[in-house]
Amino acid sequence: MATPPLDPDRLKDYAKLVFGALGGAMTASMICLGDRLGLYRTLAEAGPCNSRELADQTGLSERWLREWLHQQGAAGVLDYRGDDRFELTAEGRAVLADENHPAFGAGFFGDLPSQLGIVERLPEVFRSGVGLPYDALGPEGARGIERGLAPWFRALLVPLALPRVKGVVDALEAGVEVADVGCGAGIALLEMAKAYPRSHFHGYDISAHALARAEENRVAAGADNAHFYDAARDPLPEDGRFAFVTTFDCLHDMTHPDAVMKQIRRAIAPDGTWLVADIKARASYEENVAENPMAAMMYGTSILTCLSSATSEPDGLGLGTLGLHPKLAQELALAAGFTQFEPLDLGHPVNAFYVIRP
Ligand SMILES: C[S@@+](CC[C@H](N)C(=O)[O-])C[C@H]1O[C@@H](n2cnc3c(N)ncnc32)[C@H](O)[C@@H]1O
Repeated sequence: MATPPLDPDRLKDYAKLVFGALGGAMTASMICLGDRLGLYRTLAEAGPCNSRELADQTGLSERWLREWLHQQGAAGVLDYRGDDRFELTAEGRAVLADENHPAFGAGFFGDLPSQLGIVERLPEVFRSGVGLPYDALGPEGARGIERGLAPWFRALLVPLALPRVKGVVDALEAGVEVADVGCGAGIALLEMAKAYPRSHFHGYDISAHALARAEENRVAAGADNAHFYDAARDPLPEDGRFAFVTTFDCLHDMTHPDAVMKQIRRAIAPDGTWLVADIKARASYEENVAENPMAAMMYGTSILTCLSSATSEPDGLGLGTLGLHPKLAQELALAAGFTQFEPLDLGHPVNAFYVIRP
């Protein structure tokens, strides 16, 4: 094929796009570093700072802090106030410093080094087609997901989401059996366990690192009404005991979500309720790209984590981050033996919610 001549302006624009991505990677690694060093929390309290003041507050090297402040200012993560002083704005505080704010996002940067480390193993994955389970990311992987997803669960699951699911709060207050499948580090389950002491909460996952964190979190929360199980050894009991089942951000990560949905169908009570949260995916690549400004990031996340997990067995379904769109979720739920499927709009920026019943 004859190569068309290079257009110098388009070449410049294209190089800008590619190097912008490299710039994003550098900024992301500097956000990870700032989070690990507690710099955003310090800046949130201190107000506008120069590197000398930040060094005095943190005991860190002034020269290294100066370079970091310049990077963060150049990237627009910090506001430049003149005279070599930089400020974390109110919005910056919410996203990078306040772990309890629902918009807190620094947690997603915490496991960046382990996620990028996975790149070394991906050429072999591309050759074999068989991905890596979540535990390949090490304990930091489980911790990163925990910190990334916890703010929404802490701020909104009990006060906002559960009251919107008909009948669930009354049941939880009265005392029922609850399962959270793909529970990760257990934050969602423990938020519910603390709010509803008469109910019993059972978390299932296959990640040893996530389950270890979940148990630590359970002990710290003093939640005697919560238990965690390795689903590979101790699967969901299929005897219709659960009045309420939840799956948060995990069906698209599973090798066999269809089989897990059938297990949930057998485990749930005839009048039980299943609340699903999964990424707001669209049915086609074109729609994902047109409607989701984070599509490129999500396809990348898929290769580093979600698709990898979903193909970590040779016959895995391989849905990946943007693979469970509403129509497919409904089809799989009906095929698993459920009859009711209702979308629930909770105004979440990333997730769609479904209320599913037998
Ligand atoms: C993105 S994380 C979400 C964790 C948790 N629900 C949360 O919101 O923090 C996906 C989880 O699904 C788990 N997972 C994948 N396949 C599973 C399976 N077959 N059964 C149970 N958990 C599974 C992974 O180990 C991982 O902890």
